[in-house]
Amino acid sequence: KDFKDQMIIDAGQKHFGAIICKSCGMIYTAASPEDEAQHIQHHQQFLEGIKYVGWKKERVVAEFWDGKMVLVLPDDPKYAIKKAEDVRELVDNELGFKQIVLSCPSKIKTYFFVSNERKIIGCLIAEQIKQAFRVLSEPNVPQSPNQDVLQHHRAWRCSIKPEAAICGISRIWVFSLMRRRGIARRMVDVVRNTFMYGCYLSTDEIAFSDPTPAGKLFATKYCQT
Ligand code: ACO
Ligand code: ZN
Repeated sequence: KDFKDQMIIDAGQKHFGAIICKSCGMIYTAASPEDEAQHIQHHQQFLEGIKYVGWKKERVVAEFWDGKMVLVLPDDPKYAIKKAEDVRELVDNELGFKQIVLSCPSKIKTYFFVSNERKIIGCLIAEQIKQAFRVLSEPNVPQSPNQDVLQHHRAWRCSIKPEAAICGISRIWVFSLMRRRGIARRMVDVVRNTFMYGCYLSTDEIAFSDPTPAGKLFATKYCQT
């Protein structure tokens, strides 16, 4: 067990109400034994999942001051594929995706953003696609008093006219405590540059599939600028 992490949990217990774990990002109530048990379980699973040991011949596709990006391809060694699957499962859990079958596992490109502390703090899964349906802007959705309703509302209106696209982003995820630092933006930049050899894809050539509210906010912003 990681002694440092345990200290953070113990320190958290002295507070009432909701607390946020500084290493796994989970928000829970320290006063509730069920919550705490759930946290301990999530904590270990999560930290194990995002741990990046690395491998020989890893494919580094970008380097930044706060980390690097590694690309995993379908023909890579088993341990690399296993890591890609484990992280995908972790991301799917957080997104509430259940047993989504990948349309074509042999065409999938998994990008990791690995921090200097060797943790996978970002993941992007891209697939080759032929067409996409543009998400239409919401006509005039009334401001919901219940944020939860909005949070789980995913039935965006889509155009019925397919448009040509090349790269479909089926998952994009950044560790909760590392958001709004441009990690998602940099990941998409790198995908546009490395997805197809020798060309830089335009924002029209990439498509985000089934975006969450946060995903849609990010995608709208990203594609405008
Ligand atoms: N609300 C409003 N604007 C946002 C948000 C948000 N939650 N997230 C990003 N943006 C916009 C901002 O304009 C931001 O620039 P700013 O911070 O200077 O204002 C710009 O997008 C760039 O944001 P990044 O910092 O690059 O994005 P981040 O690294 O925080 O990652 C992401 C965004 C991936 C959506 C993250 O919030 C996340 O992992 N969320 C949970 C998982 C999720 O919902 N993923 C999308 C699923 S949809 C799909 O996978 C196709
Ligand atoms: Zn934790």
